[in-house]
Amino acid sequence: MEQLNIFQALMVSHRAQRELSGRLLASGPSTDEQQHVFEELKAELSAHETAEERCFYIPLMQHDESVDLSRHAIAEHHEMDEMVEHLEKLDPHAAEWQECCRKLCEKIEHHLQEEEQKFFPQAGEVLSDEQKLALAKDYEAEFTTLRIKQEA
Ligand SMILES: [Fe+2]
Ligand SMILES: [Fe+2]
Repeated sequence: MEQLNIFQALMVSHRAQRELSGRLLASGPSTDEQQHVFEELKAELSAHETAEERCFYIPLMQHDESVDLSRHAIAEHHEMDEMVEHLEKLDPHAAEWQECCRKLCEKIEHHLQEEEQKFFPQAGEVLSDEQKLALAKDYEAEFTTLRIKQEA
């Protein structure tokens, strides 16, 4: 099997996040199914953000050309985390929960598109082919470790 590069490795979780967002928006308001999918999306998002920061954006900070994009992406991760925290404080039966949930899904899609269409191509110019493969391995190991910790 061919080894993934860092962009292909990150895309695995991007697809999972889109799938979960779609299921979340399609699930009935205030149902157990909706809460279950929300918990799954929260876990996927959290592990992806941390592993992506440690194994992609922090290494990119070494290059002048990719400092700004890294800061921007990490700031957006923080914004999404705050939206998740806010949702956890709200009553899942309230209309406000549904509204905030929809906004979170929109924010996630905006972030994924910005990464895929803007940041990944820019990072592709900065990283060598060897780095793209090595970072994918680092990312996959980190993501897997974080997911195992969530299950524990
Ligand atoms: Fe991200
Ligand atoms: Fe990402």
